[in-house]
Amino acid sequence: MKKRILTGDRPTGRMHLGHFVGSLKNRVKLQDTYDQFVMIADVQALTDNFETPEKVRKNIKEVLLDYLAVGIDPTKTTILVQSMIPEIAELTVFYLNLVTLERVLRNPTVKDEIKQKGFGTNIPAGFAMYPVSQAADITVFNADLVPVGEDQVPMIEQTREIVRKFNSLYGEVFVEPEALVGEVKRLPGIDGNIKMGKSLGNSIYLSDTKDELKKKVMGMFTDPNRIHSTDPGKVEGNPVFVYHDIFNPDKKEVEDLKKRYKEGKVGDVEVKEKLFLALDTFLTPIREKRSELEGKNDVLDKILIEGTSEARKVAQETMIKVKKAMKIDYFG
Ligand code: TRP
Repeated sequence: MKKRILTGDRPTGRMHLGHFVGSLKNRVKLQDTYDQFVMIADVQALTDNFETPEKVRKNIKEVLLDYLAVGIDPTKTTILVQSMIPEIAELTVFYLNLVTLERVLRNPTVKDEIKQKGFGTNIPAGFAMYPVSQAADITVFNADLVPVGEDQVPMIEQTREIVRKFNSLYGEVFVEPEALVGEVKRLPGIDGNIKMGKSLGNSIYLSDTKDELKKKVMGMFTDPNRIHSTDPGKVEGNPVFVYHDIFNPDKKEVEDLKKRYKEGKVGDVEVKEKLFLALDTFLTPIREKRSELEGKNDVLDKILIEGTSEARKVAQETMIKVKKAMKIDYFG
């Protein structure tokens, strides 16, 4: 039997290059060898967007389009909508008994987000608990592997703890899942921030037009200490070269640019123009596939309806086992 993957994304915006290198690339690669489930996590998105549900609603389709555009194939991967699988909410409630408040608030990703969102002492309880519902997302499908960005590793760690606790209290029902992070752990933002993020306004989106891409690349942060193109520049950690290394398949060109940059023999404009061409070559087929599917609502709806219905069957089977193990299967 094939091993299983479960992973997902909050539908709060379009997906960017950081998502691609961190996780999407692995999903496209692994969908042939794994039984893969990908979740559009609208319930989790609501934990910090409950006042703007229309934003979440709108982005379900954007995320689906991004998935399909990069090559996640619905005939190989089951794509589902989280809120339409109520068994996940049910399992979350059982899991809440198995974690302490203190442990949830110690999760480094949750801590960072609480700071970033400025919740102060008014942390919505649903938000603080989302790692527990994420454990339910993963285990209701009994996933072996979870391809995610590096920031999600603490969630998988927490899931493993919950699994161990559940299994030791009620009997072996779940496997302990493993996280799988992309080769490129963290893609810097175009502003030089160590991380590309939707809320940081420093992202290149998979759906950016040629013009948007050009503008972003030409405005990218480079070596701040290099004033003139004749000054020797720094290549290490310079976002323009980080991107060249990842997205420019012409390694000779990249080496030549690096050499000349270090010697003060190339201007930023040339380095950026070549990066624009490499990124545009990478993004063009993604953009084309996306626009081919955009507006085909019947096709898109069908993918989600069928995927969710298939996924729900798996979740229901798991809950039968869970209730039996927990001795709450009262009437057979
Ligand atoms: N927390 C993930 C994010 O912010 C989304 C997500 C929800 C997820 N459920 C998941 C990821 C289960 C992996 C597995 O992008």
